[in-house]
Amino acid sequence: MEEEKVKILVIDDDPKVSWILSEGLGDSYHILSAKDGLEGLQMITKTHPNLVLLDIKMPGMEGLEVLEKIKSMDQVTEVIMLSGHGETKNVVESIKRGASEFINKPFDVKEVEIHIQSVLEKNRLKHELDQLKTELKTKSQYDKLIGDSPNMVQIKAVIEQVADSELTVLIRGESGTGKEIVARMLHTLSNRRNGPFVKVNCAAIPHELLEAELFGYEKGAFTGAHKNKPGRFEIANKGTIFLDEIGDMPLELQSKMLQVLEQYEFMRVGGIKTIKVDTRIVCATNRDLEKALKDRTIREDLFYRLNEVTLNLPPLRDRRDDIPLLLEHFLQKYYAIYNKPYHPLSSGTIELLQSFDWPGNVRQMENLIKQIVVREDESMVKDAVRSITAEIMPLPLSAYPIAEPTGFSLKRRVGETVASEEKVMITQALNKTNWNRRKAAQLLEISYRSLLYKIKEYEIGQ
Ligand SMILES: Nc1ncnc2c1ncn2[C@@H]1O[C@H](COP(=O)(O)OP(=O)(O)OP(=O)(O)O)[C@@H](O)[C@H]1O
Ligand SMILES: [Mg+2]
Repeated sequence: MEEEKVKILVIDDDPKVSWILSEGLGDSYHILSAKDGLEGLQMITKTHPNLVLLDIKMPGMEGLEVLEKIKSMDQVTEVIMLSGHGETKNVVESIKRGASEFINKPFDVKEVEIHIQSVLEKNRLKHELDQLKTELKTKSQYDKLIGDSPNMVQIKAVIEQVADSELTVLIRGESGTGKEIVARMLHTLSNRRNGPFVKVNCAAIPHELLEAELFGYEKGAFTGAHKNKPGRFEIANKGTIFLDEIGDMPLELQSKMLQVLEQYEFMRVGGIKTIKVDTRIVCATNRDLEKALKDRTIREDLFYRLNEVTLNLPPLRDRRDDIPLLLEHFLQKYYAIYNKPYHPLSSGTIELLQSFDWPGNVRQMENLIKQIVVREDESMVKDAVRSITAEIMPLPLSAYPIAEPTGFSLKRRVGETVASEEKVMITQALNKTNWNRRKAAQLLEISYRSLLYKIKEYEIGQ
């Protein structure tokens, strides 16, 4: 199918102008013309051109007046003014009234084309930016903790109580139960909300780098330390630091952590100066910390210090009453994000989903709803549920499109093939282990750390 050409309307009382433009640009654009302002305005309403080339000096309605009328219309139309000599004052005025550019007469068609391209490109970027803004707004609007089952109500009450205090909060719960949302809520509901919220995933950063990442380093502290660098604690000054997967913090770092928790001061790696910070600490983990205590992989004093307030987020299967509410929430969210008309789920599907065990908790539900909305197909639910329950099937592969092969570069092609195969295997392993990433890593015979890295890289389950 031929791609629809961009429509350009030329409004000029001089027929030569429209003729030159349609001869010169007709191959690339659909050129329409009007002989005066009135006819031009009518054509805009009827044909919705993307761009108008508008003469400033015309008998009847003047160009500036036409411009004003175009700009007051509901539709967005870019306007380029065409001006003769000695009309500088009008040019300035027309830019003030919303014209995108102006071109002096007599013009060269090539020059006009460059102006047109530049205006259309700017318009495209503006449009993209607007879309991103709406998307962001829609997303943040849906960034809240949903659930009115008794334990969720209680959790919300505790969040509100402790948000504005300096107490260290430990958030516990299985993967996908909303620990990060809670951490962000604690920040937004505190009087630190205008300060930074800094997240550090202790499991995803290699052990030997974690200290430098958290506390910063001085130039020359180790090979590669070419300059001084502040750590995340300093960056989080006056805000909140969220230490995710705290159970994975290496033992040797835990004593330094304890010092920070007690005195709010530390030294950069290789530094001699004590740095003081004013940072709220929130931690999260999905590990069995009691077991970690027994195994001595976590210091007892640190554990008790972190434990000033503990929020235990229940798995979704323990609060099934919230399921319909959450389903509704995610449907609303994704229909809004993808700008599609809303369709409720059938009662049969809701029932099926309410009886499902959700090993990956709310994240898994969110992913499923996203797929339903994207594919506009509710019937996939049955297969998805069956396959997750049977613990054998990956999520539908179409959720992870395999990159189109790019050219014949052997290295790149092999790289792409390996990546897509890895993605599939990781997804299968995660589903088989109910999203227990430690077990999945064992199954795949890779380290836990590299599994976390790959999950992030391939955006699995995001
Ligand atoms: N109660 C809830 N209401 C609304 N959305 C939720 C809720 N719980 C979780 N979500 C959504 O589910 C997804 C996973 O939540 P989150 O990242 O907070 O989980 P998590 O507990 O940090 O998991 P992990 O241990 O795997 O990091 C997010 O997109 C989040 O918005
Ligand atoms: Mg998390």
